[in-house]
Amino acid sequence: MLVVGICGSPKSENSNTKYLLEKALSAVNDDEKLLLNISDHNILHCTGCDSCVRKKPCPQSAKDDMPEIEKKLVSADAIIIATPSYFTSVPGVLKDLIDRSRALKMNDHQLKDKVFGAISYAGLRYGGQEHVIDVLNRYALGHGMIIVGSVGSPVKHGTFGSGSLQTDEGSWRSAKDDELATKGSVLLGQRVVEVTRRLQGLGE
Ligand SMILES: Cc1cc2nc3c(=O)[nH]c(=O)nc-3n(C[C@H](O)[C@H](O)[C@H](O)COP(=O)(O)O)c2cc1C
Repeated sequence: MLVVGICGSPKSENSNTKYLLEKALSAVNDDEKLLLNISDHNILHCTGCDSCVRKKPCPQSAKDDMPEIEKKLVSADAIIIATPSYFTSVPGVLKDLIDRSRALKMNDHQLKDKVFGAISYAGLRYGGQEHVIDVLNRYALGHGMIIVGSVGSPVKHGTFGSGSLQTDEGSWRSAKDDELATKGSVLLGQRVVEVTRRLQGLGE
């Protein structure tokens, strides 16, 4: 089994979403996971040329890291995307990856049946987290992936790995001190592993 986690924060250091992604990936064995930091990669934007629709190579792929990223995504059994909320949506760098992955859809739905989970973090308590999750889940649906959420205590835990730098009182913290976001992310990782194993006929 391979779980690929994508961190959509453009920040190369001290990323809160990366922390939560690592928590989700803590549910996966070391030799079965891979964390891909979007900030370590050069991803050019889609120019809308529609080469991929005609099953021709993407001209941008000759100039950036997308071929290497596509290889990792295709080899994954499950994909988790963790991202900050930027104006209640995903950061542009992640949207570039999303748009460029269209080639994988146009060439025989290569991400079909992969298990998918989403995590979002925001500055504000109500900073668009749920909308960001919705964007990511719709993205996964567009590829034919199988979406899962966190399944924890019905009276304690939400459906997503999600939280905020802002506390209920209005003070500030890092994701490390956001207990519910951390727990939600761990639960999401566990659920991704559980469903992936079941699909592979390895689970209970
Ligand atoms: C360009 C930009 C837009 C942002 N938009 C929002 C927003 O709409 N709502 C919000 O609550 N926080 C917003 N934030 C704050 C980030 O969501 C927040 O800092 C997040 O925790 C960053 O995660 P990271 O540490 O993993 O990069 C924005 C930050 C930036 C840089």
